[in-house]
Amino acid sequence: MILGIDEISYGAEDLAACGRFFDDWGLRRVEDTPERLVFECQNGCRVIVADPRRVALPAAFEDGPTLREVVWGVADAGTLATLRQRIATLPGFVDDGTRIGCTDPNGLAVRFQVSVKRPVEVQGTRSNTWDRRERVDQPGTVYERAQPIEVGHVVFFVADLAAVEGFYAALGFVTSDRYPQRGAFMRCAPRGGHHDLFLLRTPDAKRGLNHVAFTVRDIHEVFGGGLQVSRCGWETQLGPGRHPISSAYFWYFRNPAGGLIEYYADEDELTEAWQPRDFEPGPTVFAEWAIEGGLDGRTRRQKGRGNDGAFLTDRKA
Ligand SMILES: [Fe+2]
Repeated sequence: MILGIDEISYGAEDLAACGRFFDDWGLRRVEDTPERLVFECQNGCRVIVADPRRVALPAAFEDGPTLREVVWGVADAGTLATLRQRIATLPGFVDDGTRIGCTDPNGLAVRFQVSVKRPVEVQGTRSNTWDRRERVDQPGTVYERAQPIEVGHVVFFVADLAAVEGFYAALGFVTSDRYPQRGAFMRCAPRGGHHDLFLLRTPDAKRGLNHVAFTVRDIHEVFGGGLQVSRCGWETQLGPGRHPISSAYFWYFRNPAGGLIEYYADEDELTEAWQPRDFEPGPTVFAEWAIEGGLDGRTRRQKGRGNDGAFLTDRKA
């Protein structure tokens, strides 16, 4: 069984900016050389940024800084052996004894290893709903910054949706929901979060990275993390907001290492019983609601509203 994403590698020349970004994003810097930076999420999921002028990386599927490789963690050596049989004849096949891999039909290097992620004990904030009082004599949590648990999903622009979806389906991925002919939300095992991979075909059929998403504990950490990243001066692309498909709360920023980057929490959990749904792409299908331009981390109010952070009840100076 494929468990999830163990490691991702970006190729980007501006390591200084990428380093500042991932520090601010809440990852732990575990290696720092002129050639590459390595970061860890809470459970040991790794994010690598390497300078393509100094390090031999798998080929890029688009110009500029972007994702070069995704390493999926699997449950055991038996799963790895089964996957090896399935990919051994595919383009770009590699096997170094620990990791196997190939190139997917979109041009991305895909790797598999027995997962090295660690179990983590993290507690989200309990919610009080009408029917369930889970937080009693206990205030809710305000996060000053995020500590991402892991990379939860990756999203690519694909030129040939059927070919890429078929490639991942043959490896055991299951389609959770679809934009027919336009997009496929896939999870890496029948039981798990709504999607580990989302493939999107745009009208111009371009290939590339759309975004990488980091799982945080709960909606409050989406807000607290996003506010901190805003205070550090990084630019919101869209958010905070909520996706109707997957039900997750999100906040997207621009990433100097390539593409967009997302904090998310509270996605739907699916099983074999789930029936994939078809949707027509559109703004209201993408977001139930979303804030354009983000929140100002200092005033904690919507950016560009011109209220200088004043409360309605503040007295005029
Ligand atoms: Fe996402």
